[in-house]
Amino acid sequence: MKVCIEKNYNQLSKLAADFIEDQVIKKSNSVLGLATGSTPVGLYQELVRRYQQKKLDFSQVVIFNLDEYIGLPANHPQSYRYFMKQHLFSKTNFKSNNVFIPSGQIKNFSQHCRWYEDKIRSFGGIDIQILGIGRNGHIGFNEPGSKFDSRTRVVSLDKTTIKDNSRFFDSFAAVPKRAITMGLATIFSAKNIILLASGENKKEILAKSLNGPASENLPASILQSHHSVTVIADKEAGLLLV
Ligand code: PGA
Repeated sequence: MKVCIEKNYNQLSKLAADFIEDQVIKKSNSVLGLATGSTPVGLYQELVRRYQQKKLDFSQVVIFNLDEYIGLPANHPQSYRYFMKQHLFSKTNFKSNNVFIPSGQIKNFSQHCRWYEDKIRSFGGIDIQILGIGRNGHIGFNEPGSKFDSRTRVVSLDKTTIKDNSRFFDSFAAVPKRAITMGLATIFSAKNIILLASGENKKEILAKSLNGPASENLPASILQSHHSVTVIADKEAGLLLV
């Protein structure tokens, strides 16, 4: 595992964008696993900037997003499909038929989850998976207790997650209570993983996840045994790693 502690959020975002840039230049039809939340917003801004400067072409890049709330229409401002469109897809040249995001509005969820897994495999797997980390150690919506061998599935959200994400909604009650997420084994199958962490409120969980005993009660700890993980933290989040 490689750990990079950057002096601020801006540098964190730029370094993450460098990894994506190198990958996309090396392989124009790269398969990227992307995340939502506040942490990757700067990375997406940086990718948009590099696209506008004609340094990057996303026309052949394939995207798989980590997760989606269940029950929100795709055009709901808090749906993750909307988030990705707003921050990245509407400002770059990703092709809509190369973008895969779990649907939170499907009737047959188990079939949809199997389809999602098959689709990832059909593209040869994910080249780089971007992750954030929740204060409870979740990655994607794999909450504490998620099995290390879990695959894409429907999950109930943890109270901590609902509380943290309620900042984007009118109230705690308005936050969806269920989601569809790539599983921990799905994430672990990615060829390379980049975990981003920013801010002091992530320093404890980050240190525990990377240095503490690996356990299904701490989903991000699965990353300790992955062969190619790069952690990019700003100095606040990385405080307990040094
Ligand atoms: P955040 O969320 O980037 O908004 O802190 C991270 C996560 O919950 O995975």
